[in-house]
Formats: sequence, C-alpha cells, structure tokens
Amino acid sequence: MCGIVGIVGRDAVAGGVIEALRRLEYRGYDSAGIATLEHGRLERRRASGKLVNLEARLAEAPLAGAIGIGHTRWATHGRPNETNAHPHATARLAVVHNGIIENFRELKQELETDGVRFETETDTEVVAQLVSRNMDRQMGPVDAVAAALPRLRGAFALGFIFAGEENLLIGARHGAPLAVGYGAGETYLGSDALALAPFTDAITYLDEGDWAILSRAGAEIRDASGAVVKRPKQTIATQAFRVDKGEYRHYMAKEIHEQPEVVGRTLAHYVDMAAGRVMLPEALPFDFARLTRVYITACGTAFYAGLVARYWFEQIARLPVEIDVASEARYREAPLERDGLTLVISQSGETADTLASLRYAKSQGQHTLSVVNVPTSTIARESSVVMPTLAGPEIGVASTKAFSCQLTVLLCLAIAAGRARGTLDAAGERRLIDALIRAPGLMAEALTHEGAIEILAREVAKARDVLYLGRGTSYPMALEGALKLKEISYIHAEGYAAGELKHGPIALIDESVPVIVIAPHDAVFEKTVSNMQEVAARGGRIVLIGDAKGAAEHGLETLATFTMPAVDAMVAPIVYAVPIQLLAYHTAVFMGKDVDQPRNLAKSVTVE
Ligand code: F6R
Repeated sequence: MCGIVGIVGRDAVAGGVIEALRRLEYRGYDSAGIATLEHGRLERRRASGKLVNLEARLAEAPLAGAIGIGHTRWATHGRPNETNAHPHATARLAVVHNGIIENFRELKQELETDGVRFETETDTEVVAQLVSRNMDRQMGPVDAVAAALPRLRGAFALGFIFAGEENLLIGARHGAPLAVGYGAGETYLGSDALALAPFTDAITYLDEGDWAILSRAGAEIRDASGAVVKRPKQTIATQAFRVDKGEYRHYMAKEIHEQPEVVGRTLAHYVDMAAGRVMLPEALPFDFARLTRVYITACGTAFYAGLVARYWFEQIARLPVEIDVASEARYREAPLERDGLTLVISQSGETADTLASLRYAKSQGQHTLSVVNVPTSTIARESSVVMPTLAGPEIGVASTKAFSCQLTVLLCLAIAAGRARGTLDAAGERRLIDALIRAPGLMAEALTHEGAIEILAREVAKARDVLYLGRGTSYPMALEGALKLKEISYIHAEGYAAGELKHGPIALIDESVPVIVIAPHDAVFEKTVSNMQEVAARGGRIVLIGDAKGAAEHGLETLATFTMPAVDAMVAPIVYAVPIQLLAYHTAVFMGKDVDQPRNLAKSVTVE
C-alpha cells in the first residue's frame, strides 16, 4: 500500500521525508521517491526497490528544499520501476498518490486528445496532467486542484507541491486516509499519524472528501463542496503508534473504514490494472486446467469467504468446489485425490482446525494454497503456495478488512482459474477486472451510508432475534452478517438462503424480528423479492440492503432500505461487506458492548 508524506518546513526537508517514509515501510512498497523545490524549481529523486536505494540517490545528488513530498509505491498501474515511481511531475507541479484512479483511461484519452503526452503507465500521471492543464488555463494551484478533484473517481489520497510556491502543499482524501500534522512553523501531511510521529503528536485526520491547503502557518481544510471546515485536532499518544485507532473509537471501526484502501492494495498485488489481467505473483505448482475440483476449508468468517468463492470458481472457471468448515474437514477423512488442490483461508494463519485440515490435505498428496493475512504464520509456512491478503494487522476480534481482502484474493484466483481453464476469455477477464478495480471506490461510497445505518442499529438493538436472507453469493453474505451481529452484540441472529425460508425459519417471523435482506439487483433478485413478500405477508419488518434498481422495483414496505452503488454481480460481495459490518458494529456500540474484544472470543483460535 502506498504511503504519502509532505512537509512545508523551515529548513531542508529531505531527511525528514525519508524518516517519515521509513515509518510507512510496514505498508509494503516496491519503489520510493521524493520531490522538493530547489529555488522554486521542482527536483525529484526516485528509485526502485527499498528506501536505501533512494537514500543512495540523495547522497549522490542531495536536495536542499524546505518543502517536499515523498512516497513509497505499491505498483498498481505499471511496473515497479523508477519511471513509474512517485512523485509524478509536470513543469508546474509534483504529485504523490495512494490508491486507484478508476477513470484514468477515460481522462488519459481526453488529455491526449488535447495534445498532452504521457511519460509513464501510471494513473497518477493523469492527475498531474489534469491539474497542470487547469493551470495552463490560467487557474492558480488551489483552483486547479479544486477543479480536478471532482473529476477523479476511485479511492485515493493525494499530495501536491507546485513550482515557485515555497509555502503551499495540498493534500486530498477520497477513500484513502490522510492526516495533517502541526509543528512549530512547519506543517505536515501523512498517510497516517505514525509517519508524522517524529515531528508532531498534534494531528487532524481529514474526513472523507476533505482536502487541505497547507502552509508553514498551518492548514486550511475544505470539504468536498469547497467550503472551509473545522476538523478536530487530536493529540496522539506516541506509544500507541503502529496499531493505533487513529480517529476512530474502536479498532473495528477503523478496520471497516480502511477497507477501500486495503482492498485496493490487495488488488494492486494481484492485478495488472493497465493490462486488465490477473497477475499471480507466484507460479502455481499445479495447473487449474487439469483439476477436477477444488477443496476449500476454513473457519468462521474465513469459511464464509470460501462459500462466496465457491460461486466464483463454479461460475467463472466451471470448477467444482467442495467446501467444509475446518473442524469437520479435519476429521471427515474425505478421500482427496493426489495432485488435487486444497485451498485454506485464514486471517491469523494459526487457526488450529484450519491448520490440521491443511496437514491432512498434504498427507493425501494434495497441493495446498493458503489465503492468509499473516505471512509469517504457520499456515503460510506449511502451504505450498501462499496468497497473502494485504489487509495489515487486524486487531478487532470480529474480522472485517481481512474478510473483504480474502474475497478480493479469491476472486482474482477464480479469474486466473477461468483463464487457465478456457472458460473466461480476455474480454471477459478485462470486464471483471474493470469491475474489480471499481470495488475500493464503491466501498468508500458504501461507507457514506454509515449515518443511516447507525440510526437503524438503534432499532435492531431492541430485537431478540434477527434473520439475514440472501441468494447466490448473498447467501454466504447473510451468514456473515448474522455472525458479525451475534458475535459483537450477542443478539441471536441466523443467516439463511432466502429460498430456504419456507422450509422452517418462516415460523420465526413476526413484527419483533427484523429480517435483513441482502439483495443486489442480480440474476436472482426477483426470486429474493418473492421471499421478501413472504416475510411482509407475515408482518415481518424488512431491511433491504440492495441497490437503486432493486429498490425501485420491489414495491414492498421496508423498515429501511440501504441503496448500495450499482456494482457488477460478481464483485457485489466485496462492496456489500461494508453495510453488514457497519450494522453489526453500530448495534453493538449502541448496546454498550465491547466491540473490539467481545466476550468469549479470541482473535487467533489456536485450540480446536
Ligand atoms: C468472526 C471471526 C472468526 C474468524 C475465525 C477464523 O468475525 O473473526 O469467525 O474468522 O475464527 O479465524 P482465522 O481467519 O484467523 O483462521
């Protein structure tokens, strides 16, 4: 995940920028760079690989400017070489960027038609050129950025400096975090407070859509409409850095909000965005084309990620899937064919049952592939292939960002399988990748429903039982929604396949039982509406998590309807994870529960 740093300082800032970048190394990166103003002129130093390479460049050709921006880059669009490293620059400005600009192809075409020539394969250069063109049209730097921001789609954070402007740094937050730090006669910009810890403990986290105009005297923060706004200044306890809660009350809230960023980072690892292809970082020791089935096993939330993946493998790659919870899989003594594939999914990589199932699969001569969040874990070490989720440390016991990253990796894997098995052609792959690239931006949009979800949570908090319903990939999402709610609020909740309702659970329905229906407008939407009708006919109170098209069609009265952005049906689970997590979180917070450490639960379940 890329890291951003900016300093409007009193003396040379290059050393400070490097120091801050070092604190962002934990996010992972493959190139780094810095830009400063040398007597008003933009100068850059960039290098592929680790920060030591950039430091060597700086030792050869030092920078003395008192204003600068720096960046560690996780390659998304274009290879991790020096040309593609940030900052990107034109004669007028330099920019650093974290995240994905979804509509970069469209903007690039527009700029090229206008005669702009591009030097790199990155989406970031589009931002540099867009703002530069605004400046060519006689706008000042602030107006040029203000005019460019609404044209950018996706989840991103940006930092700009401008030729000739020794006292101006602009930062913008849209789906990826960004903080402003205050020092004595110096002001800072950083991806997180950890980066700014060497300089200051006085931090303001920008809100979604905010952008900030920094000078040595401080920062003016504006919201998406351009209005000047006040955001709270916080004092950050330095010992809390590394796994701090940032601006959030709970780790779980922070981790829910981090999802656009960490899903983007995970995508960047597995997708060549410019080419529109999945790029698995490791060669696989088996051939998807020769597999007759794939076995999936995991526990809890990770198991539900596997259940979603079953639909993907079967539909995209026409590859049959057998899936079981690891506590059963390990003892079932299921016959597994030699050279077949077992896929295990685990956030911690230490879950005892999942590990035992992995060992059983190995004992049967299976290839093992693990999707894990902790790359040094036992499961990662013992698997023949590891596909890490790049969610970063997940502290809240209830899994959130690890889940959406698991889904992201699994969808990439299903796409790779489809390609290998000839069930997905290049155009189909590109279409899916285009949809996947949009996921971080759509998750950021889904997060904007938080206020309304919080209000509904007060109603849900009164319930003794809650039902979750869904069809297709929304069925495992219903299971996940119910698990999330019960584990942190202790309200009894069950997830069902919507079509199963009339085979028993319908007996539970009365006006005291909220029924949360997860239903994007996909191929099975109409079927789900029939099930909603059955609920409504029995006085059940429906909460629909769907989209505008579905909301306009179903014609039923609901207790609440949350309209998620329109999203490709395959990618929907990644986006719909957000509202179900928010509902569980706010219900538990309203009830005064310990959301980060719910009773009886452990983050890493190393006993069976
Ligand atoms: C639920 C949750 C658990 C875990 C399960 C597996 O929110 O976090 O259900 O998903 O204990 O843990 P890992 O993924 O570490 O194997």
